[in-house]
Amino acid sequence: MREKLELLERRRAEAELGGGEARLKVQHDKGKLSARERLDLLLDEGSFVEYDRFVVHRSSDFGLEQTRVYGDGVVTGYGRINGRLVYVFSQDFTVLGGSLSEAFAEKICKVMDLAMRNGAPVIGLNDSGGARIQEGVVSLGGYADIFLRNTLASGVVPQISAILGPCAGGAVYSPAITDFTYMVRGTSYMFVTGPNVVKTVTHEDVTMEQLGGADTHAGVSGVAHFVHDSEPASLGAIRELFRYVPQNNLEEPPRGTGRDPRDRRDEALLDVVPDHPNKPYDMHDVIRRVIDDGEFYEVQPDYAGNILCGFAHLGGFSVGIVANQPAVLAGVLDINASLKAARFIRFCDCFNIPIVTFEDVPGFLPGTAQEHGGIIKHGAKLLYAYCEATVPKLTVITRKAYGGAYDVMSSKHIRGDFNVAWPTAEVAVMGPKGAVEILFRKEIGESDDPAKAMDERVNEYTEKFANPYVAAGRGYVDDIIDPRDTRPRLIDALETLRTKRDRNPPKKHGNIPL
Ligand code: HXC
Repeated sequence: MREKLELLERRRAEAELGGGEARLKVQHDKGKLSARERLDLLLDEGSFVEYDRFVVHRSSDFGLEQTRVYGDGVVTGYGRINGRLVYVFSQDFTVLGGSLSEAFAEKICKVMDLAMRNGAPVIGLNDSGGARIQEGVVSLGGYADIFLRNTLASGVVPQISAILGPCAGGAVYSPAITDFTYMVRGTSYMFVTGPNVVKTVTHEDVTMEQLGGADTHAGVSGVAHFVHDSEPASLGAIRELFRYVPQNNLEEPPRGTGRDPRDRRDEALLDVVPDHPNKPYDMHDVIRRVIDDGEFYEVQPDYAGNILCGFAHLGGFSVGIVANQPAVLAGVLDINASLKAARFIRFCDCFNIPIVTFEDVPGFLPGTAQEHGGIIKHGAKLLYAYCEATVPKLTVITRKAYGGAYDVMSSKHIRGDFNVAWPTAEVAVMGPKGAVEILFRKEIGESDDPAKAMDERVNEYTEKFANPYVAAGRGYVDDIIDPRDTRPRLIDALETLRTKRDRNPPKKHGNIPL
């Protein structure tokens, strides 16, 4: 027995070395951690339990039989984050460049199947040269097996991807289907075709970083949701995300600490909205003053800054916050903002996370770029996502709620549960100046003093419509509240909505305007 145990220990140690010391050194020299070091940072200390440590590939083409490494380039298993179960896979670049073989894919599929069966999240740490070229179509089949599982798991268990090295070719489509993608500046990149192919096909000169680096995907394409300067920061941020998301679609999200008093009023909220309706302010100031301890876990902070999305706790309840940001493009809704918020809302709805909307929106962005880019169908995604969501929906109109954007931003008409306005709110078809220019153009043009006529009509319109009272008179907002009471009122509403029951009509699935 003892001899056999020694053999087991030797083989275990061999498996833990992956591609060997020399390749590990190259990995470290590139500023990257090993597959196992990453798991140590991601998971609670000592909680990782490995599966399939002794799996090897079955190929013997192109000399592959010479490089059979235990584990075959991916470390899989389960562990805990803050005591809660998660399934993980961590690709090991030191073994054949982390390339995906048949056996490698089977290992990933095994943990994904377990995660689904046991209702636990899946976290994938990606660092791979893509399909194992020597295995050919078998490798492609392995990817497809993963894509199918990603799709079936979508909306059932949270799926998180960290890109910690290359992620190229079709391999990008697994992270793309998962819920959130984390990238690291300088060491991770994602693209369907690399710089060489780009050069051949389009004659563009582009670096890996420009084409598919972390900042490109966080700020330009919107493919990445979070970007950090180091792997430890990125892995730490994934741990942090799990303070807000549940294990699966049948569970409630985790509660916050509840330290911040529920009845806390905030005097400063009286002065956040400027007197002049066109003056910008930072909606972060409103959000941070309302939520627990000012802790806002912002999603895609570098993309479509005209809308803010992120997680927070409110009176201990986990909530998803969606907010127009008047400090960027006046908070207008455009294509990117619609896509960003729609996807976030759908995540929250999948996972029982109430949505709190802070609204100050002048409408949809005009122009050929937006129209030709399909703002109609993309804006419709946001509308659809809000309409479809059956989680508690709470809305605070801080200032403008104009036009179609009023309807879209979680209005009462699309099943808003608790809709309130600050006294500064303007709920109208459009801003006073725009409205007067349309309604009274002729009258003003023919008047002796057009500027004066314009002012008079603007004042009349402002008094009549640029306020929350018309909407409140119809019951379209449930109340007009003192801004200082925003936090206690929202928490109280969340409490009443704990038992909310709402359902969409039975169907196979809807047809969101993609
Ligand atoms: C087999 C691979 C490999 C791969 C890398 N290696 N990628 N082996 N299949 N896909 C091996 C290398 O031969 C090398 O082995 C070792 O891993 C380390 O790779 P290097 O090239 O030395 O590393 P580096 O310089 O850091 O470059 C990393 C890289 C490059 C940019 C990822 O390796 C690369 O371009 N690889 C190929 C990428 C690719 O085209 N993949 C297929 C994409 S198509 P030795 O023994 O020499 O050290 C695809 C389809 C998926 O993935 C479809 C799903 C639908």
